[in-house]
Amino acid sequence: MSEHFDAIVLGAGGAGLMCAATAGQRGRRVLVIDHADAPGKKILISGGGRCNFTNLGVAPDRYLSRNPHFMKSALGRYTAKDFLALVDRYAIAWHEKTLGQLFCDGSARQIVAMLLDQCDAGAVTLRVSAPITDVVHSDGRYRVTHGGRVAEAPALVIATGGPSIPKMGASGFAYDLARRFGLKVVEPRPALVPLTLPGEEALFRDLSGVSAPVIARCGKAAFAEAALFTHRGLSGPAILQISSYWYPGQPIGIDFLPGHGADWLVAMKREKPRMSLRQLLGGVLPDRLAAALAGRLTLEGGLADQKDRALADAGRQLSDWRFVPNGSEGFAKAEVTVGGIDTAGLSSKTMEARKVPGLYGVGEAVDVTGWLGGYNFQWAWASGWAAGQAL
Ligand code: FDA
Repeated sequence: MSEHFDAIVLGAGGAGLMCAATAGQRGRRVLVIDHADAPGKKILISGGGRCNFTNLGVAPDRYLSRNPHFMKSALGRYTAKDFLALVDRYAIAWHEKTLGQLFCDGSARQIVAMLLDQCDAGAVTLRVSAPITDVVHSDGRYRVTHGGRVAEAPALVIATGGPSIPKMGASGFAYDLARRFGLKVVEPRPALVPLTLPGEEALFRDLSGVSAPVIARCGKAAFAEAALFTHRGLSGPAILQISSYWYPGQPIGIDFLPGHGADWLVAMKREKPRMSLRQLLGGVLPDRLAAALAGRLTLEGGLADQKDRALADAGRQLSDWRFVPNGSEGFAKAEVTVGGIDTAGLSSKTMEARKVPGLYGVGEAVDVTGWLGGYNFQWAWASGWAAGQAL
């Protein structure tokens, strides 16, 4: 015997819970199924346990997708302010950390509790520890076998996220299911992920633990934030951001002199002729990094001893230090996935599959990926809300 619902949501992450709560509060009978033992596990670990739940600067150009316009409708109809109003209604204290990033003052648990309360308000049925063993579509109904039960509904929402951090319950389930229903999947790859370096870049490895403000560039993308040297390569916000734009084989350029420019060394020769390059760099960069870079540039003596051309060359190198990563730390360490269910097959207004009535895709499962800084949760809330309005 199967149970009947108006909609079944697969995945109890941010997108699935928002979708279920929205549809439930519109009077729909909604079932949410998750194979993990608790809902919202990625929310709990996000933002160092404080959940960077949205960003005041949300705009379509801060998202990657094969269709750069797809996210406009949902983000425009459910905004960062809308989510913030919900957070305020629950009296969850928050603060802006930097670059418009909003975090809980207390704990990410408050966000999960809020979403679960919203689901309760919509009389949503939530089942966790329920592995999905079969999904069948016939006679306009979706039948989902899960944890020994069968539920059916005329609408099915894929909200099972992407494969980043498999130990948190992440899987490629969304893609397999979407393909089974004839939807295309844009090749997924790890994003917001540390990059690894080949042996010849030992300069960076020796600096493990050092952090510096830089501009990281790849193709047309550039991020002015901190980079962190690790024993395997590079991490920190600037590198995580640029990793989403990086393809294997492409060079990354690091500007170690943000705000100074390539001509800075020549200008400083006039101002401080006796100073060595190492001393000069030590004034604007962490000491170990200044020593390593000056050592690589091998300009002995004071600035006055250098030819202008040599200083100009060194300035250019310091403001565009090129290297080719040999990979990334992969899905095991990636905060998100670039790629996913191809938006060409979905309505940007409702998130429903154009050719499969009643099938929806939301959140990270879809080929929409935000920058670091609360953009990905805002997409989860907005896309979940858009589908929840349409169910
Ligand atoms: P999400 O992955 O959250 O949920 C999918 C759900 O589906 C999970 O509950 C999973 O168990 C379930 N599922 C998967 N496969 C299944 C299957 N086969 N059967 C049944 N259920 C299945 N973003 C941001 O904006 N601010 C931040 O601070 C952070 N911080 C952060 C830290 C870390 C460490 C990570 C890994 C990620 C972030 N992110 C983030 C990204 C953010 O967590 C991510 O974009 C959203 O959680 C995506 O929400 P979804 O609901 O789409 O997927």
